[in-house]
This record gives sequence, C-alpha cells and structure tokens, in this order.
Amino acid sequence: MDTFQALVARQDGDRISASVETLTESDLPPGEVTIQVLYSSVNFKDALALTPGGGVVRNYPPTGLVPGIDLTGQVVESRSPDFAVGDSVLAHGYEIGTGHHGGYAEYARLPADQVVALGAISPHDGAAIGTAGFTAAMSVQALIDWGIKADAGPVVVTGASGGVGSVSVDLLAGAGYQVVASTGKKSAVELLKALGAVEVIGRLPADPDAKPRPLAKARWAAAVDCVGGATLADVLSAVDYRGAVAASGLTGGAGLHTTVMPFILRGVALLGIDSVQLPIGPRRELWARLGDSLRPRHLGQITTEVDVKDVVGVLDQVRAGAFTGRAVVRVAGGF
Ligand SMILES: NC(=O)c1ccc[n+]([C@@H]2O[C@H](COP(=O)([O-])OP(=O)(O)OC[C@H]3O[C@@H](n4cnc5c(N)ncnc54)[C@H](OP(=O)(O)O)[C@@H]3O)[C@@H](O)[C@H]2O)c1
Repeated sequence: MDTFQALVARQDGDRISASVETLTESDLPPGEVTIQVLYSSVNFKDALALTPGGGVVRNYPPTGLVPGIDLTGQVVESRSPDFAVGDSVLAHGYEIGTGHHGGYAEYARLPADQVVALGAISPHDGAAIGTAGFTAAMSVQALIDWGIKADAGPVVVTGASGGVGSVSVDLLAGAGYQVVASTGKKSAVELLKALGAVEVIGRLPADPDAKPRPLAKARWAAAVDCVGGATLADVLSAVDYRGAVAASGLTGGAGLHTTVMPFILRGVALLGIDSVQLPIGPRRELWARLGDSLRPRHLGQITTEVDVKDVVGVLDQVRAGAFTGRAVVRVAGGF
C-alpha cells in the first residue's frame, strides 16, 4: 500500500470540489488499525460534508479531506490486541469523514477503540446498514427501553423512504410493531409496504400552512423522527399518553417550535439519538444485535450500489431529499 486511490474533497472559497486523487501511506491519520476499505455508504451527512456551509466539516485541511462517514473492510495491519490481520471490521462516528479521513478511500487508519468487529454481518451488509441503519437501530432500541411495546398502537416513522426511515420501518415491523410510514415520495409507497408498513401517509404536518396545535388528537403510540422542524412538532402534538419520540435528524429543519404541553399533559418523552459520540461499548453491542436479533429483514430491497468514483451524483440526490433507501458505495474496485 505505497499509494492508493481516494476521493478527496477540497474547499476553494465558497466551493467544495471532490475528485479522485492518489494518496500515500503518510496521508493516513494516526491509529492502531489499518483497514483495506471494501465498502462505504451514502448518508445525509455525507451530502452536507460536500455542501458549502453544510455545518458538518469544521475545517477542510489544505491537503483535503476524504469524505465517507462509515466504512467496512478488512484489517491489513494492527497494533491492537483486539484486531488481527484479516478481521472484517466496520467503523463510523467519532468524526470519521468529517474531522479526519473517512471511507471513500482504498485504505483507512483508525484508533482501535473506534473499530467494531463485523461478526455475523458481511462487509456489504454492514455498509448497507451503515450510519443511517445504526441510527435507526438506536431509535428503535430507545423506544423499547422507554417501554413502548409492540402492541402499543401505531408507531409513525417520518422521512420513511430515506436511510434512517427505511431501516426503522424494517426493524420496527420485524419486531411486530404497527408501523405507519410518512413519506413525501409516492414512488416509495409499495416499497414501504413491502418493508412491513401497515399504512403509508404523506409528510407531516399534513397541511403545512395550518396553524400548529400544541396538542392534537392522540394518533401515535410512538415515533421515529429523522426530519425535525415542523414535522417533529406535529408528531409530538399527536403522541399518546406516555408515548415517546426518538429524534435523530433535521432534513426538514433544525428549528423546533412546540410547547411543553405534550410533555406535561401526556408525559411524552423526546428521546435524543446521537450515533456520533456513542461510546464504543454500547456501539459494539448494538452492532452485534444488528447481526442477530435485530437483523434487518429487507436490506436487499432497500439497497442500491454505486462505485465510489460516481458517488457525487448520489450525494446530490440525497441532498435534494430525492433518494430512496440506502446506497452502498463500492470502494474496492470502485475507482
Ligand atoms: N443523530 C444521529 O446520530 C444521526 C445519524 C444519522 C443520520 N442523522 C440525521 O438523520 C437525518 C436523515 O438521515 P438519512 O441519512 O436517513 O437521510 P436520507 O436518506 O436523505 O433521508 C432523509 C429523508 O427525509 C425526508 N426529507 C427530506 N427533505 C425533507 C424536507 N424538506 N421535509 C421533510 N422531509 C424531508 C425524505 O424522506 P421522504 O421523502 O420519505 O419524506 C428523505 O428521504 C439527517 O438529518 C441526518 O443528518 C442523524
């Protein structure tokens, strides 16, 4: 591995460009585990990383940044007793692809305490789940931990056709929940039903021009929301007594204009989901469950593949909210 191929993003004034470059081993950051990357994936955050003012990359180093907030592959060098050459591993979070080089390169080097053994999950499926699917799993687990049982009533998933949304629908339906999928894409209705949604509705609020109500008729036992903004406010107003909303995202906006009414009159819980700084212990435990009792049932149906050299086109679709499901990025052989 004297030299290797990478997609490198550079900032030039208010422009961010991304092009394939040849890097050398000395370009890799410090760390005990060197990984030959097989796959990465596309997440909303990857689109923001290549968007001027996107807010997820604090500084583009003058030498450029390799994007890709998650990666799977094989260990080719290890100075850690926890990993051996040939191990199949995965990494995401901890500013991979935003604060230091990420998955859109043939090699990555990371601290051992940021690396997860893939175990029963193949490198391809690990990338198909990726950051978005892991966030879905965190959201579902948070609802379970809050005490939402499978027979509690309808659980709404917003942004349902996207990465977090589609995997959430799959996981919740697989665990026996009555899932209502909320999506802006008519083209995704059949897919969401195939994932197990009992009903597919449009985006929330149903009438974006109506004056928001502090409390609406209780419709949802719980919710997984990755949209934020007016959608999250609408969902909160319609969650039933002692229900909960697992909130992870902001594709519909970072603002949240609501009242305390859902919290003090219905005991509703707003559960914050952060996959970035989650400590490695619970991260490894949840990945082990994703390979076992929490395994997504329909990964093949929600996943498409793209070569890393062509990923910018998919990132554009994700940025526009126009992509459905998960995109696995083929890194080995994809340049
Ligand atoms: N907290 C964490 O650790 C964490 C981890 C991963 C992701 N996230 C966040 O979660 C969100 C989703 O990530 P993702 O990777 O799943 O993105 P994604 O694949 O692009 O999905 C987002 C979905 O949001 C919906 N959407 C887009 N624009 C919208 C708008 N203006 N109003 C309402 N809905 C809109 C669309 O679904 P429909 O067309 O079906 O409505 C879209 O497919 C992002 O904000 C991301 O940053 C957070």
